Amino acid sequence: MKLLFIGDIVGNAGRSILKEQLPDIKRQFSIDVCIANGENAAGGRGITYLIAQEIYDCGVDIITLGNHTWARKEIKNFITSDSKIIRPANYPKGVPGKGCTILSMNGTSIGVINLLGRVYMDSIECPFRTAEKEINAIKKQCSIIIVDIHAEATSEKAALAYFLDGKVSAVLGTHTHVQTADEQILKNGTAFISDVGMTGPAEGILGVDKEIVLEKFLTSLPVKFELAEGKGILNAVVLNIDNNTGKCNEITRIQKKINHY
Ligand SMILES: [Fe+2]
Ligand SMILES: [Fe+2]
Repeated sequence: MKLLFIGDIVGNAGRSILKEQLPDIKRQFSIDVCIANGENAAGGRGITYLIAQEIYDCGVDIITLGNHTWARKEIKNFITSDSKIIRPANYPKGVPGKGCTILSMNGTSIGVINLLGRVYMDSIECPFRTAEKEINAIKKQCSIIIVDIHAEATSEKAALAYFLDGKVSAVLGTHTHVQTADEQILKNGTAFISDVGMTGPAEGILGVDKEIVLEKFLTSLPVKFELAEGKGILNAVVLNIDNNTGKCNEITRIQKKINHY
């Protein structure tokens, strides 16, 4: 099974790049399944119903989210009924939506789990124990399990990967928007990367207009974030997973610089 995971899609730029690049990437790497993080898809914060449909139409099978899940109020109206979109599983009980979903592809069941880190982020339920619980609930059904750990601290993401080594096919970091060069297959067959990186404007600061971010650092005054313009970037990883054992044989980073979109 060849699985493509695309890092945080940021705004209109991210969606345009996705539309333009995904068919080629899927062909080039013979991709069977595509997962994308969509927490910044609507103007940099959150996701709407129409934007989720637009992302599916591009060829994405499952959307994961993160700390910006609730930025657009309308998410509450569709997140529970849409089986293809998940939010972090470690939000408190009773929160709309789900943190895990199962996708069937050519007779193989793929479980996808979304988690949020707690270091330098809002304090929610433990991502480690939540991961264990979610994995136990689906492991009989799914030979392949993919975890999106949306977190700030590299140490937390690496610790989760070590904790889950051999229990899932991949632990993929998102949220920091910069692709890291530490992709690896751990001892028991789990693929890991600290951060897949983002898909969107390349010339800003993590996708946001540089001047606005600088003003915030220089003055500490509240500012309204606007997305950067100019060149773009697509960041993703391709996983080659054994359908029977669920072990990952290969993780390949993709980073494409885009001049026009
Ligand atoms: Fe993000
Ligand atoms: Fe985030």
